[in-house]
Amino acid sequence: MRRILVTGGAGFIGSNFVRMVLAEHPDCLVVNFDKLTYAGNLENLTEFLNHPKHKFIKGDICDGALVEKIIDEHRIDAIINFAAESHVDRSITGPKVFIETNVTGTLTLLEAARDKKVARFVHISTDEVYGSLALEEDAKFTEQTPPSPNSPYSASKAAADHLVKAFGHTWDVKYNITRSSNNYGPYQFPEKLIPLMINNALNGKELPVYGDGLYVRDWLYVYDHCAAVWKVLTEAPPGEVYNIGGCNEKTNLEVIDVILGRLGKPKSLIKHVTDRPGHDRRYAIDADKIIQDLDWKPSVGFEEGINKTIDWYLQNEKWLSNVASGDYQKYYEQMYKNR
Ligand code: NAD
Ligand code: DAU
Repeated sequence: MRRILVTGGAGFIGSNFVRMVLAEHPDCLVVNFDKLTYAGNLENLTEFLNHPKHKFIKGDICDGALVEKIIDEHRIDAIINFAAESHVDRSITGPKVFIETNVTGTLTLLEAARDKKVARFVHISTDEVYGSLALEEDAKFTEQTPPSPNSPYSASKAAADHLVKAFGHTWDVKYNITRSSNNYGPYQFPEKLIPLMINNALNGKELPVYGDGLYVRDWLYVYDHCAAVWKVLTEAPPGEVYNIGGCNEKTNLEVIDVILGRLGKPKSLIKHVTDRPGHDRRYAIDADKIIQDLDWKPSVGFEEGINKTIDWYLQNEKWLSNVASGDYQKYYEQMYKNR
């Protein structure tokens, strides 16, 4: 039986990963370790909180003693590190916590993995470590593209990637790094482009488009990202880095157009606002390596993915309203106070 420690498993991608593993790999024990920052939401996993193969533990990845205790107690054989501060805008207004969690936190997990001889460390990184592409360029990011991060968020993620490689080189920690493009899908916190625009449009609020709105992202449905991470965990040789992309390059205005059309809302809701400082113009992923070597490919195209995503938000208004009111942050106490 596999026994995995998933950090950040109450966040957007982490909770989708936990759900996928519990549903599709019943022989796997999932220990879900999350600090429950503003981005962590246990309501993402309501139906799995009493699942026999899922154990949730609240804690900080910077707490080395607790991480080591968990590894020992649960005989963990792999760590999948999703935990992070993940929002670029927040890294511009307050970079420090990005260094604490994304750099010091990753270092702490690596020390524990090394000292406890954890068999595999899968680190979830991002295409943003490569920097920005020009709109008119044909090029995409490959695994050989040198890191050139532009925001405090991407700089902290690139620093963590270097640490992971250094622990592999110096102490033979068996690692993989994945670098994915922009994810979308159910349970994404409504501060990121797609859920923010859905939520605002549903409430008749303005849609704040940064600058000219012609920035390009390569959209990947979250389930496909999770399936790729599982492949990396179970099939990749140690020391390999994999780009994961959706082959779905869209401008922000194109994405917003689809959302407004589907919700039957007017384009007059769009409001161009001051641009994000240092805004990366375009991200595009060359995912050939994982496609060739691990036989993975995205299964959900943009049209299907965005429709599924909009449907999910329409069907889960309570989830959205609990986030808006802050009630989602009371859920942990309610669920765990008597345990
Ligand atoms: P998220 O912000 O939704 O979730 C992050 C989770 O980490 C939350 O549950 C939060 O409570 C937890 N966390 C934060 N600090 C912690 C700490 N110190 N200790 C323990 N837990 C902590 O993020 P996401 O969008 O799900 O992203 C997950 C990972 O994937 C991140 O590493 C991110 O850099 C990477 N990534 C995200 C995307 C994307 O489009 N969202 C794309 C590529 C890579
Ligand atoms: O590429 C992977 C990265 O994608 C991940 O590593 C990050 O964790 C994730 O947050 C995401 O970063 P982006 O900055 O690309 O995502 P965000 O949803 O914040 O913004 C997407 C685009 O939309 C970007 O060009 C900025 C723009 N935008 C965003 C918001 C929140 C707007 O125009 N208005 C907005 O209100």
